[in-house]
Amino acid sequence: MSFLQTLQGRRGDRVPIWLMRQAGRYLPEYRELRTRHSFLEMVRTPELAAEATLQPTRRFGFDAAIIFSDIMTPLEALGIEIEFAPGPIIRRPLRVRPDIERLELRDDPAPYVGEALRLARAQLPEEIGLIGFCGAPLTLAAYLVEGGGSKDFEHFRRLLRADPDAMHVLLNRLTELSVAYVRMQAGSGAQAIMLFDSWAGLHDAATYAEFGVPYNRRIMEAAGDAGAARIAFALGASHVLDALAEIPCDAVGVDWRTDLAQARRILPGRALQGNLDPAVLFADRATIEREARRVLDAASEVPHVFNLGHGIWPQTPIEAVSGLVRFVHSYTR
Ligand code: CP3
Repeated sequence: MSFLQTLQGRRGDRVPIWLMRQAGRYLPEYRELRTRHSFLEMVRTPELAAEATLQPTRRFGFDAAIIFSDIMTPLEALGIEIEFAPGPIIRRPLRVRPDIERLELRDDPAPYVGEALRLARAQLPEEIGLIGFCGAPLTLAAYLVEGGGSKDFEHFRRLLRADPDAMHVLLNRLTELSVAYVRMQAGSGAQAIMLFDSWAGLHDAATYAEFGVPYNRRIMEAAGDAGAARIAFALGASHVLDALAEIPCDAVGVDWRTDLAQARRILPGRALQGNLDPAVLFADRATIEREARRVLDAASEVPHVFNLGHGIWPQTPIEAVSGLVRFVHSYTR
């Protein structure tokens, strides 16, 4: 089955594979581009972003390509300045309500991503899927309030509790932005839209149901209306799977800690994407194949897109990736 057929709920002998963060620093040809261009320059230059998008599919024969960008870049359309070092940094984090109420959608979000999608689609073989994406509002809010990555996201969680109304104002603005952004991507050649809720796991199930689910639903409905297949990914989210089931989508991406059998029970009718531990790619070949087989066997009753449980690590050996792709493509159910 192709990547898109699998998202449409079809299940065949051959399991499609791509890897989260497949464009990036573990690839020599990516590092080579980065010696001449900053990350943001690459993201904002459609020819470079399209090239970075295509590099991993050329080298490994993945079944899908994900557009080279970042969850944070479209936030500039709200007047927010972002830097990368290498993770996102917001020099003026949103800590109080007036900062949040000042946000408004000033421009079309990241038009250069639309151009990069068109360029990438024109160069990709037809059977390879092209994925657009956006960050979930609650995950974007975590970075915006905190000012960058963090272990506990104390400022963010404190604001959510101290002024939940302000948090809802922020989540609404981020949702409006993301709805426009996914529509634009679907109209520019993205056949699937993936929603990254990388910090969903910070919250208990009731909090996630209130502050996460309704906004994610609006974005996924917009992506569906625009004709794209939809993947919802949440990290560290085994304890919020019931809430995730309320988000309309064709596939759910699960991390390596989430039991695939449990995910199957809670998410009937959805394809599953995942969930090899990215650290496994540092093991010997026999171990990689044994662990990959475990994932494949556990998902053999559902439409399955093979992936890692989170992004590939920058030090990952290239041969481990090519070996994994060969193994997954040779596996028959
Ligand atoms: O192949 C791909 O997936 C490329 C596109 C992509 C990037 N970021 C490029 C990137 C995607 C889908 C993302 C999503 C993203 N960005 C998420 C959600 C997925 C996840 O990992 O949970 C998050 C939370 C971010 C925020 C972000 N951007 C972080 C935490 C970092 C630093 C971590 C790292 O990999 O170094 C970034 C920077 C970033 N985004 C890089 C890339 C290739 C590294 C930039 C560089 O080359 O210096």
